[in-house]
Amino acid sequence: MALILGLESSCDETAAALVTGARAVLAHRLATQEAQHRPFGGVVPEIAARAHVEVMTPLVEQALAEAGVRLSDVDAIAATAGPGLIGGVMVGLVTGKALAHAAGKPLIAVNHLEGHALSPRLANPNLHFPYLLLLVSGGHCQLLFVEGVGRYRRLATTIDDAAGEAFDKTAKLLGLGFPGGPAVEQAAKQGDPKAVPLPRPLLGAREPHFSFAGLKSAVLRARDAGLYRPEDIAASFQQAVVDCLIDRTARAIDIADGATALVVAGGVAANGTIRAALEALAARQGLPFFAPPLWLCTDNAAMIGWAGAERFAAGLTDPLDIAARPRWPLDPDAEKARGAGVKA
Ligand SMILES: Nc1ncnc2c1ncn2[C@@H]1O[C@H](COP(=O)(O)OP(=O)(O)OP(=O)(O)O)[C@@H](O)[C@H]1O
Ligand SMILES: [Mg+2]
Repeated sequence: MALILGLESSCDETAAALVTGARAVLAHRLATQEAQHRPFGGVVPEIAARAHVEVMTPLVEQALAEAGVRLSDVDAIAATAGPGLIGGVMVGLVTGKALAHAAGKPLIAVNHLEGHALSPRLANPNLHFPYLLLLVSGGHCQLLFVEGVGRYRRLATTIDDAAGEAFDKTAKLLGLGFPGGPAVEQAAKQGDPKAVPLPRPLLGAREPHFSFAGLKSAVLRARDAGLYRPEDIAASFQQAVVDCLIDRTARAIDIADGATALVVAGGVAANGTIRAALEALAARQGLPFFAPPLWLCTDNAAMIGWAGAERFAAGLTDPLDIAARPRWPLDPDAEKARGAGVKA
């Protein structure tokens, strides 16, 4: 069974993992840079790139030791090659290239989003293609029809902010701290989701696209009104996001012919209220529901190793001169969403 070393460094987590094609995670090591970015209230690309350089090699050594294997035992090295902060992506990809060259093993350049998209299959052997995927993370909010490894049809995307970005900005506006998603979720537990009237952008629209920029502005106005407790704004914001995600995903189920399951992945999939609402939607639609365990939702190297294992099994490896890509859509044929700004 193939043994893959996975490397991740596209944002503010550095990670290395050893994963087999039989879904065994032999080791996974992760160093988060949260503390270094917290004073700035967001990820600073230059700080991130330098921090990746410092910890990537030790993490690889630790992961190999934890798994009890040597580099020569590995069948291929899979590294995130984009999309993400280019300085960070380059650190992981160059490390992967150097290890592949030194060990004489193939390199697999993994799209970070494919890591998220396939992560539910690492967690569950009963999830088969094709499935409808809601990919909700810090940089993306998309509905994808996942036909197979490397075969993604984008049904919808956000026309402005990603859902995770909206969580992070809401946390910042409410002074709840960084990273924002878990902070908003915690605050929302003490709040009333009906307390603050907030918009649900694009609800009911024919195409299942998303929009969160107006919701963020409404959070700012609610805060400045001085009438509401931060917990109530957090709970009402989270409820508005849930309502949008459910309405848009229900619309995608209508048009995604042949999907065998509803799947959620990406950092925002760690949110308990969102997971529960999606599970209920799947039950109403008679679809099985799959969500990765929480540690596999946010950035990690096990999902990159697993995407590598899936690609390796399909005979997909890459040349050592492959370039890092700050932008890299999963579906290169997807048309720009109507009303969208510059983000893909
Ligand atoms: N419990 C939670 N509730 C809501 N959002 C959450 C929760 N936990 C994490 N998030 C959000 O998930 C995002 C991080 O997810 P992830 O690590 O997948 O994103 P990313 O790698 O930065 O972006 P991308 O994968 O699009 O490149 C952040 O925006 C964070 O606020
Ligand atoms: Mg991510």
